[in-house]
Amino acid sequence: MSKQKILALLRESEGYLSGEEMSRRLGISRAAVWKAIDGLRREGYTIDSATNRGYRLSAAPDLLTEGEIQPFLHTERIARHLEVFQSIDSTNNYLKREAQNGLPDGSAVIADEQTGGRGRRGRSFSSPSGKGIYFSVLLRPDVAPAEAVDLTAYVAVAVCDGIQEATGLRPQIKWTNDIIMNDHKVCGILTEMSIEGESSALQYVIPGIGVNVNQQAEDWPEELTAIAGSIAQAVGHPVQRGRLAACLLNALDRTYLDWLAGRRQPYLERYRQDCITLGREVRLVRPDGETVAQAVGIDDRFGLVIRHPDGREETVTSGEVSVRGLYGYV
Ligand code: BTN
Repeated sequence: MSKQKILALLRESEGYLSGEEMSRRLGISRAAVWKAIDGLRREGYTIDSATNRGYRLSAAPDLLTEGEIQPFLHTERIARHLEVFQSIDSTNNYLKREAQNGLPDGSAVIADEQTGGRGRRGRSFSSPSGKGIYFSVLLRPDVAPAEAVDLTAYVAVAVCDGIQEATGLRPQIKWTNDIIMNDHKVCGILTEMSIEGESSALQYVIPGIGVNVNQQAEDWPEELTAIAGSIAQAVGHPVQRGRLAACLLNALDRTYLDWLAGRRQPYLERYRQDCITLGREVRLVRPDGETVAQAVGIDDRFGLVIRHPDGREETVTSGEVSVRGLYGYV
């Protein structure tokens, strides 16, 4: 705990801060200050020390820890309860387990590594340590299940907002909710919800978000090179994950409050602008066969409007849609 407080003091301070001043401000002994500094250095922080002046933080490692996230976090509803794990099976699984124990609306869990990261349609989601951000939030809106279905599209817009805030570059959205930079997937979203059998009431919604942040070309297995990319590859330099995680949570906070307040139009507009699927040829694989059509619009419920070769239009609300020009579809 003292370590995080010392880190916060060092961050706030313009120049050097003496050990005595830190011990006075935090009400801890000089030995405890020294122990915390030593601990931070062991974690990879570069802390300069100068006789008679004290300590100064000169470089921070790219750690996904509470100490690296909290200073940038300013949320009202999301992540008021925040748990950060070095390694976990899956942040979605964790929140589903903890939801039964009454965890409040907005609780967030972040992991540096997932050993059982899950994607849509039962796929696995590669979640190596030190490279990405894997997180989930527990939402308990008081609405009917059908009304929560479009939340995942809002989350996609929020992820674009958060990445733009942190990097200056705005990603695109491959319908329904893959986040794309440089024609490669940098983030996937898996939204799960629970409905009580007896009453059909919505118990919770858990959007789970996996972001590829600092992977480089050599980190992708052969079969993923056409599909997966990282934010660092798109922006051309490594990205500090703690700040990015906070930007994503800040954006999700605004979005969740807007969604609760029924503010839909700005999200539809942003989704339509960001959607890389529009205007392209798409291929849908359905139980009754394969369909090739043109993606022509996003309707007011975030459904994908496609035009068949015979001119007939149809709105697709779920399923796998391949987009010509992406993920190796030529
Ligand atoms: C997809 O692209 O198919 C969705 C991937 C979602 C991955 C995230 S990582 C955090 C959360 N925990 C999981 O096990 N999955 C989601």
